[in-house]
Amino acid sequence: MKVLILDTPKVAIARAAQTVAETVRTNPQAVLGLATGGTMLPLYDHLRTLHSEGLSFAGTTSFNLDEYVGLSPDHPCSYHRYMAEALFDYIDIDPSHAHLPKGDSTNAHAEANRYEARIVEAGGIDLQLLGIGINGHIGFNEPTSSLGSRTRVKTLTESTRQANRVYFERDDQVPGFAITMGVATILEAKSCLLIATGAGKAEAVAAMIEGPLSALCPASALQLHPAATIVLDAAAAHCLRLRDYYHHVHPEGKDRVLA
Ligand code: F6R
Repeated sequence: MKVLILDTPKVAIARAAQTVAETVRTNPQAVLGLATGGTMLPLYDHLRTLHSEGLSFAGTTSFNLDEYVGLSPDHPCSYHRYMAEALFDYIDIDPSHAHLPKGDSTNAHAEANRYEARIVEAGGIDLQLLGIGINGHIGFNEPTSSLGSRTRVKTLTESTRQANRVYFERDDQVPGFAITMGVATILEAKSCLLIATGAGKAEAVAAMIEGPLSALCPASALQLHPAATIVLDAAAAHCLRLRDYYHHVHPEGKDRVLA
């Protein structure tokens, strides 16, 4: 794992955006795995700016991690809507190449299988963006999700429902289920880029990087990934025991050059 600790959320997001931009510049046909949530909003803002400065997404394909079961694409709280408003409406990605699971499909289990197959058909994901839940989830793989899981329907924990409550008007509107890529689906991406900012994520981040590999913290599965980069601000890195070492290896988020 490459652990990059930057002072502020702003610098951390800029560092993550630089990785996405490099991926797209190196491979204009890149397949991007995308995430939603509060952490990603400033990242997408940054990508919009890079696009206005010439970065093209015209050849890229994208697959989002997840979508709520029961919400149609035009529901104001759906992740389809989130992605349109945060990114897709402002960049030149071909809308027919921007994929999310269909939350309002009549058979959510069949939709999950179709989505997994569609990722394989596209040749797999080159760069998977990830956030982390305060309970250690990635995608909506809640604690005790199988580390071998594939795209499927997951029951959301009460902690996740509460974290997402802010986006809905009433408590009973927060969906209880989501279609999510599985942990094994995520691990098959050629590279992973997880971003965490703020003190609220510090314990989950420490469990992911320095805790045991455990289904209790699904994000710890990234310890198995050969090309996982974790971008943190100082607050999210606060509980890491080997913080000084990570700073030493990647001063200001840069790679140390062999003398
Ligand atoms: C979103 C997703 C989730 C979030 C996580 C963090 O597509 O898959 O795993 O990345 O819940 O959310 P925020 O950034 O809102 O704290």
